[in-house]
Amino acid sequence: MIKFLDLYKQDKNLHKSILNKIDKLFKKGDFILGNEVSSFEKNFSKFSGSKYAIGCANGTDALTMALSSLDLPRNSEVIIPAMTYCSTAFSVLKANLKPVLVDTDFLKSTISINELKKKISKKTKVILPVHLYGSVANLTEIKKIIGNKKIYLIDDCAQAHGAFEEISNKRSKKKIGSIADISCFSLYPGKNLGAYGDAGIITTNNKNFYNKLRKLRNLGSEKKFIHELVGYNSRLDTIQAIVLNAKLKNLSKYNLQRQKIAKYYNQNIINSKITKINYSKYCVFHQYIILVKDRARLIKIFKKKKISFGFHYPYAINQLRVFKDYFKNKRYKNAEKLAKESISLPIDPNLSSQKIKFITKTLNEF
Ligand SMILES: Cc1ncc(COP(=O)(O)O)c(C=O)c1O
Repeated sequence: MIKFLDLYKQDKNLHKSILNKIDKLFKKGDFILGNEVSSFEKNFSKFSGSKYAIGCANGTDALTMALSSLDLPRNSEVIIPAMTYCSTAFSVLKANLKPVLVDTDFLKSTISINELKKKISKKTKVILPVHLYGSVANLTEIKKIIGNKKIYLIDDCAQAHGAFEEISNKRSKKKIGSIADISCFSLYPGKNLGAYGDAGIITTNNKNFYNKLRKLRNLGSEKKFIHELVGYNSRLDTIQAIVLNAKLKNLSKYNLQRQKIAKYYNQNIINSKITKINYSKYCVFHQYIILVKDRARLIKIFKKKKISFGFHYPYAINQLRVFKDYFKNKRYKNAEKLAKESISLPIDPNLSSQKIKFITKTLNEF
């Protein structure tokens, strides 16, 4: 059996030290916003190159709170890509704003810059690109489009911990998480950096956003009983911060391994029935997807050969049942193509070369 992701194997050598720290926490008892939370915030802001980081309960809340912190008029427009996880769209609605969908580029997982330009209106207050699969959206171009308009840039980095942008054919000095006004990360277990439960973190270089978000995640309060805002109960647990502090040390190494596997797939999957997509140069490959017209047949073969697979995602945002009426009669052809034809291959950083070769051979014989 080839697992999609083997977290036990990935973290096995960390379990002892994590358990020791949890044992100490049991004695100390600072389960809520304990020392490990502030230390993880410091470590993650250093990792991402941002000035500030605010831990929170999950990536969906990170996005919702980031949008809420802007205090925008109700129903201001937020531009998001049509292919992303449901949370990106839900966070916009939860913040009482209006999601406006933009298609992805052809055979790419990120928002189309040309289509984006067409959707900007007087009501646009936020552009919210998603670095889907770890492939980086063109933030430099988006910033140019924004120019000096009063539009905020918030990026959904749930799948892109440690990715870099490419600027003039070179790796930018800035990592994802340090470029937009506010950046939102999920730390869900299966992410490139994941906790052992739900968790999230927000990064920013802006002190005002930082101060506001610290309050928002803690019921509007910085000091006990002093509630200045109608906030959320969305704190990062101390136990999860212990896990994340331990795992952060391995993140860059595992991202490199993901990149190596992706390079192998790129070079060695050769079959006219399979279409590969284009990833940004410094992608961290949260997922590696291929497109196939006869997906059902490939699924059968994968099942027979015991190769695990995934879908990211089988529906574009406009196709989600909950949005049946909301985006009625609107089509996003590139995003819908990804939904219909994509299948995600295992890209576990610890996948053996023998298993990678077996997956590739199976695909080439398909
Ligand atoms: C692109 C994207 N945005 C947002 C989220 C939401 O994060 P969470 O599950 O931590 O709420 C996820 C992950 O699930 C995601 O992949």
